[in-house]
Amino acid sequence: MAGVKIFDTTLRDGEQSPGVTLIPEEKLAIAKQLAKMKVNVIEAGFPISSDGDFNAVKMVAENVKGVEVAALARCRKSDIDRAWEAVQHAENPRIHVFIASSPIHLEYKLQMSEDEVLNNAVEAVKYAAQYTDNIEFSAEDASRTGTDFLARLFKAVIDVGAKVINIPDTVGYAVPSEFGQLIKDVKEKTPNIDQAEISVHCHNDLGLAVANSLAAIENGASQVEVSVNGIGERAGNAALEEIVMALYTRQDYYNLDITQDTTQIARLSKLVANSTGITLQANKAIVGANAFAHEAGIHQDGVIKERTTYEIMDAKTIGLDHNKLVLGKHSGRHALKDFLEKYDYELDQESFESFFKRFKDLADKKKNVSNADIIALLDNELYDYEKIYEMEYISVLTGKGLLPTATVRLKKEGEIIQSAACNGDGPVDAIFQTINELTGIEDIKLMSYKIDAVTEGKDALGEAFIAAEIDGKIFTGHSSQTDITEASAAAYIEAINKYLVYTKNK
Ligand code: KIV
Ligand code: ZN
Repeated sequence: MAGVKIFDTTLRDGEQSPGVTLIPEEKLAIAKQLAKMKVNVIEAGFPISSDGDFNAVKMVAENVKGVEVAALARCRKSDIDRAWEAVQHAENPRIHVFIASSPIHLEYKLQMSEDEVLNNAVEAVKYAAQYTDNIEFSAEDASRTGTDFLARLFKAVIDVGAKVINIPDTVGYAVPSEFGQLIKDVKEKTPNIDQAEISVHCHNDLGLAVANSLAAIENGASQVEVSVNGIGERAGNAALEEIVMALYTRQDYYNLDITQDTTQIARLSKLVANSTGITLQANKAIVGANAFAHEAGIHQDGVIKERTTYEIMDAKTIGLDHNKLVLGKHSGRHALKDFLEKYDYELDQESFESFFKRFKDLADKKKNVSNADIIALLDNELYDYEKIYEMEYISVLTGKGLLPTATVRLKKEGEIIQSAACNGDGPVDAIFQTINELTGIEDIKLMSYKIDAVTEGKDALGEAFIAAEIDGKIFTGHSSQTDITEASAAAYIEAINKYLVYTKNK
């Protein structure tokens, strides 16, 4: 059975979402999860755009195996050199060059003729070919470009070595039947198309990115460019989880082989939401909190009698079996190791021992520990980045008629620093003010602060999530603990640490 290649651009187009900043270590954690899900290509970034992006692409290329890694470049030698420098050590590196092709972009943005664009594209592909034969060429704003020019352009770049030609609906203007027809026309009009793969890259301005991508697949596209949770420029890109689950659930219709591991979807989605600070609407398809919830009595009754009456997908297929109680305070190292293996977490001996201790602490506080609890604890340490500040101690005094006061002790590069007690409007504000004073970073604007219970019950772990604006960029922090003040402080410190790592990288 034929398949469709999944090209994930969460780390490139997704990172172009307004306000999103990911440090290289966050990108690496996301890339590893994408590889676990078995996407075919990871577009790790646009190396010429900043040193941080260059480092992130390099880190992903050097550390993530079993997947192609792509780096984006404009049709310029300096971009291509930088892209190659960053991506060259990947197991299978790809250079992705692009230039706009539509009349509106040619006239107003590039001020170039069609022939000039074509020559530029040909020169860029030839230049990239000295490094690799894995070259993708994108005609930006292709959906607003005439098919005659598109076919001429694609023929020319395929002649000099492009192996993938990408047809982006850059501004999300296309509608499904028209976009499907465009793919068909390009296929028919490009004489050497059998030497290249057809890819599509759809934006979601009209909410049609997934529908357009699926229409393209039906008309001959064999690669789709997607992002986790559909994040990306403006309204975002086609959502990875929606495309994969549509192809999986409707295999009877599409008749395509799905090689991705769908059970990694829930974890991947949460990781991206936590790292980017772009949270999900409850009714978001596949990964929203309500995607598998039933409210109407008739529906609940139906599902109890037979799940498939109202569910076309099983939550387990996307990796949601989180309420299962798995371990308790009598569980030993062996049981925990089995769990980690089953869920594909790799910890070295030292990290395992310290994680085992944290698990035991939790099991002492909670009678039964669920999958979700353990995964939440593991998620506290997803990013292996330089932790400039670490929390040593925290105490908060609060109550009716009392001025909330916090005392915090942090460790900075091995040295203990302790604050005098600071006040705040509430206990959490008092903690944050105290941390500001200790770190000397005062100009922090809290954009989002949320506390959630990881599972049900009064002994549930509290999960704190923070998005903070520091120096005009947004950094996120996340932590799950039995004490929500501790979780809040840890999440706040994580956001500050990421800011400091980002500044260092810059
Ligand atoms: O939307 C777009 O056209 C892009 C290209 C760079 C592929 O992101
Ligand atoms: Zn795009």
